[in-house]
Order: sequence, then C-alpha cells, then structure tokens
Amino acid sequence: MASITIRNLDPAVKESLRISAAANGHSMEEEARQRLASASSFAFPPVAVPVQAVSLPAAQILGGKRILLIIGGSIAAYKALDLIRRLRERGAQVRVIMTQAAQAFITPLVAGALADGRVFTDLFSCTGEQDTGHIRLARETDMIVIAPCSADRLAKMAAGFGSDLAGAVLLATRAPVLAAPAMNPAMWTHPATQHNIGRLAQNGIHFIGPESGEMAENNEAGKGRMSEPLTIVAAVEALLAKPCDSLDGKHIIVTSGPTREPLDPVRYLTNHSSGKQGHAIAAALARLGADVTLVSGPVALADPVGVSVIHIETAQQMYNAVATALPADAAVFVAAVADWRPDTVAVQKIKKQVDSRTIVLNMVENPDILAEIGHSVRRPKLVVGFAAETSDVVENAKAKIVRKGADWIVANDISSRTDGSGVMGGDRNHVKIINHNGIEPWPEMSKISVAEKLAQRIADFFKQQAKQKS
Ligand code: CTP
Repeated sequence: MASITIRNLDPAVKESLRISAAANGHSMEEEARQRLASASSFAFPPVAVPVQAVSLPAAQILGGKRILLIIGGSIAAYKALDLIRRLRERGAQVRVIMTQAAQAFITPLVAGALADGRVFTDLFSCTGEQDTGHIRLARETDMIVIAPCSADRLAKMAAGFGSDLAGAVLLATRAPVLAAPAMNPAMWTHPATQHNIGRLAQNGIHFIGPESGEMAENNEAGKGRMSEPLTIVAAVEALLAKPCDSLDGKHIIVTSGPTREPLDPVRYLTNHSSGKQGHAIAAALARLGADVTLVSGPVALADPVGVSVIHIETAQQMYNAVATALPADAAVFVAAVADWRPDTVAVQKIKKQVDSRTIVLNMVENPDILAEIGHSVRRPKLVVGFAAETSDVVENAKAKIVRKGADWIVANDISSRTDGSGVMGGDRNHVKIINHNGIEPWPEMSKISVAEKLAQRIADFFKQQAKQKS
C-alpha cells in the first residue's frame, strides 16, 4: 500500500485518527490504513469516519502533557523512537535529551524529527543553555521518562551525579520520574544494580520493567529487556492520570496469566496465556482509584504501576493467594488456570524408559478458583469470570455463569486465526459480556481498551449500588 502522510491531513481528521490510534494501540499510519481498507469495501466513500470503539479517557490523559524523554545508552535506544511516536499520538509534547552513549545507537537527527523539535545533548551548549537551559528543561515538564535506562545511569542517579545534561536535569527536577531499565541480565541482577534500584525506589523514582526475554546478544536470555513502548506509555498514563476516585476504597482482586504445574524438577505443564489482558485490567482498575491485588502466574510482563502483585506458579498457590487476599469488593478471574496437575511431582528428573516409548501421567483436578470463591460465604459483591472457548462461546459461557457463581462472564473465542494471530498472546480481543439478563457483544479492540471499558463497567456497578442504598 502507498505510504500515508499524516502531516498533510485535515486537522479534524488528524485529531480523530490520533484518538482512535491511541485507543486501539497502533500508530496513526496503521489506523489510517485500516480505515482505508474498511472504507474500500463500501460502494460510496463514507463521509465521516466513526470512532465508536474509542476509549476517550485513555487518549485524553496525555493530551497536552509535557514529557521529557531521556534516551540512555543501550541497544534498546531504537525502541525510544517508537515511544516518541506513541506519546505524540496521544497528544503529549515530547522533548528529548540524548546521552552521549545513546548517540552511539541512534542519531539526534532522527529522534528530533520524530519529536518535532531539537534534541538536547550537552550540558554546556551555549545555544541550549541560552534558549532553554537545564533548569528550565527540568522544570517545564510534567514527567521525565528515562528509556532506555542503563545500569550506568541508575548508578549515577543513585549517587546524585549531575555531570552531564541528563544527570543535571534529574537532580533539578520536581516532576515524577519513570525509568525503563534495559541491560544484560547479569548486569540487572548484579548486587550493585539491585542496591541502586532499592535506593532510587526509596527516593520516589518509578520503574517499569525490565522484562524477561531474549537479549540482543546471541544466545542470551533473562531479565533485562526494556518494556515495550506501549507498556511504557501505559505506565506514564497511570502515573499522570488525574486521581480518579470512582473506585476509591474498593479492594479488587484480579488473577492473570497462566499457571505452571510441575512434573519433575525440570518440567512443567502450562498454556499460552500471556497475562496481557489480566494485567491491563488490574492497571485500569487502579487508574480508577481501586486498591488492586493482582495474583499473577509466570508472565514476561512488568508489574503494573500502582498495583500490589503476588507472584505464584501453580493453581493451588493462586487459590491460596486469592483466599488470603479476601475480603474484597470485587474479583476478576482472568487467569488461564491449569485444570489439572500431575498427582505427584517426581523428586528426580523422570528418565526415558528403554522398553517403552509412551509415558502415562496421572492427573488430578486443581481447585476451580472462580467457582470456589463464587460460591463461598466470603464471596465479593461482584464476581467476574472469563470464558475461554474454542466453540459454542455463548452457550458455554452461560453455563459457566451458573456453575461458577459468577455475576458476569467475559467470553472470548480463543481459537487461533487463519493468519496465525490469536487472543492468547496477542494484543487484541473480541469479547461478549454475559450476565443473568443477556449478552452484550463488544467490537474487537485492543486488550487495553477492553480493560478500560470493563473497569468503567465495574465502577458503574458500584455507583448503581450506592444509589440504590441511599
Ligand atoms: N478458572 C479458575 N480456576 C480454574 C479454572 C478456571 O478460576 N481451575 C476461571 C478462569 O480464570 C476463568 C473461568 O474460570 O475466569 C473460566 O475458565 P475456562 O478455562 O474458560 O473454563 P474451565 O473452568 O477451565 O472449563 P473448560 O475448560 O471446561 O471450558
């Protein structure tokens, strides 16, 4: 498809694109492409492009906010370019500082072109100091984001070094600071780095990531990957969101991710759940002021900002953590819990048998956490389950509402699509909300938008309850 120049579009169309791109989690070019693709299926060109699937509150948090992005020296610096675009798509004004090490990975020219302004690099640049100055850079900002943030930058910050522009600005600012660390796993786990992180957290610095995964270096994997740009954007939004009190004082438990059921010391049974939907729901509820306990299976995601996270591995541990976290006003069960576990966990690694090419596993049922809590005397006022189905989505979800004692079921079809994408692991979701009164289909949208919409529904539920009481 031909390239699309957003700059030349009518300002109203640009604004509408910006909002829907932000809500759907893609770039403005991608949003424009999708609109053109769907418009081509009509006989007449549509006059106005509908943007019903837009979650305005999410897009509005960053509108007009001044973000100072410090790009540090790491191979992940290239991701900072996408971060600039994502922030600007949401209406933020982005100023950029690049450290000397960052300039070994990307050029100030390209960062400046995306940020629509010059990039600041020197503490003692005459022009920089005269027209802006490091004190103004530090003060004229709503938030500073350091992405990528290297081990060296963490050490400099922890010790209070102001010998370069980034360091001086970080010392002089009163704005909140969010750091997205990126480094080799050995550097991340080094006691010096961990000590610096502890000190900086005590000083009020916020962190997003790092996440686990493959490193740029050959054959290296572990914790140290910088969070993806959209995850960083969500953390910025969470920190900048105006305190919203619609769920103030409500304790909400969310389960997320897969569980891992061990077979022996080296093997386990699990599933493809990424935790993206559950984590997004926990973050969205926290943004509405709820006190959220997230019980998470093993995922490669950063802990959401402003949420208490309990990390578990097995279904039994997830059940224990949920039961311990009660009482709660609401619980949202998003986790893809393993229904069964091996009845015994071998103490030694199970060896291959010379006389047999098959192995028999005896499995026992795990606790059904949603059903246990849904029918318990300590049941939260609102219990929301998910239904992951590959067929008869509505019928199966309706049966689950009764069997598990839920108030609402969020049903989705998890069959993989012909193009290889799917709900499990993907960034988009297409759900139906089912309660005792009926079914409400929602359009396909990003998992972040599903989370925002569901969190708002939960807030509306409690508002309604309060009205009925008064
Ligand atoms: N769930 C749970 N504990 C389990 C199994 C499921 O809490 N041991 C919750 C899930 O978090 C979800 C809902 O129950 O909210 C439905 O999960 P799903 O996997 O769709 O259904 P299952 O109960 O596993 O039933 P089936 O596999 O037969 O569809």
